[in-house]
Amino acid sequence: MISSYPHLIDLNDYPVSWWNDVVELGEKIKNNPEIYSGACHNKIMATLFYEPSTRTQMSFQTAMLRLGGRLIGFDNPANSSVSKGETLKDTTKIVSNYADILVMRHPVAGAAKAAALSADCPVINAGDSGHLHPTQTLTDLLTLKCEKGRLDNLTIGLCGDLINGRTVHSLLKAMSCYSGNKFILISTPELKLPSYVKDILTASGCPFKEVSTLEEVLPELDVLYMTRIQQERFASREEYLAQKDTYILTTKKLKLAKPDLIILHPLPRVDEIEIAVDEDPRAMYFNQAKYGMYVRMALIITMLDLDSKTTLLRGKVVKGASCKNPNCITCSESYLPKSFITIGETMLECEYCNERLLLR
Ligand code: CP
Repeated sequence: MISSYPHLIDLNDYPVSWWNDVVELGEKIKNNPEIYSGACHNKIMATLFYEPSTRTQMSFQTAMLRLGGRLIGFDNPANSSVSKGETLKDTTKIVSNYADILVMRHPVAGAAKAAALSADCPVINAGDSGHLHPTQTLTDLLTLKCEKGRLDNLTIGLCGDLINGRTVHSLLKAMSCYSGNKFILISTPELKLPSYVKDILTASGCPFKEVSTLEEVLPELDVLYMTRIQQERFASREEYLAQKDTYILTTKKLKLAKPDLIILHPLPRVDEIEIAVDEDPRAMYFNQAKYGMYVRMALIITMLDLDSKTTLLRGKVVKGASCKNPNCITCSESYLPKSFITIGETMLECEYCNERLLLR
């Protein structure tokens, strides 16, 4: 299924050269923001946030305001007609006729792709459940470019909630496209990276290993990407409590790390980075959030200037098959075509949330 509009649902829908151009523009804007102050004059952005956010929502909003554009939207669907039972399709259809560009965060995987199917303007995925977060990855790329000076030949440790970490999934998919990168996945067995992302790493040829402690790998890292254990994604409080506090970065542990390590975190932080670490010059997470505003300015300019179509569904509806992920958008928005990609002879992968199921 092809949409007449450009959308950003997954960074990997675009070539690496496109991300590099957005990041490069983000760096130019950071250095000379005033030049771009009228770039979106008379344009309106809608921010539809069905799930809480501080950084993504406000950095998109300030990005648009700094470009001379204007804003509409909601940050609490309870205050919109979503509370009366309006479908994602209808809300998107209506709002996309009011705005020039739509930014959506949603607690259900695949929601941004589903929204793009009915949108009459470009849609940007601002995080869909524990699935993907492409604009956080653009933020991370700009941070790495400015603070490490390169996007290749890096040893990157990713620590914490790797199963639910949408920022981790998007970042790994992107960084595996640059040569010489190595990944160290630091998690408990319960919070391991989903197999579809591991398959992407394997296919890219980037080496990766899975370990269970931070201390054993800290000395070899160029980048440490800490993440929060995401309470809201667990089925029960007991399961969350069993994982909480497993990984805490302290000033003491940092003595093991390289002097030119950089510590990233998409934020919000709970207690996985000790507050005292904030004073360490290697702590880059607050700067990272600021880079996010500049790269989102670059993204808005780029998306509003793009004159391209987007292929949203490449696979097919398979008779009798439906996604088994209860948090997939096809479960809550029943009108959506249940489209799958075939993996080998025996497996289907949902095109909205990447959940896999075995063919009988
Ligand atoms: N990094 C990030 O997505 O933060 P928010 O949830 O505050 O938007």
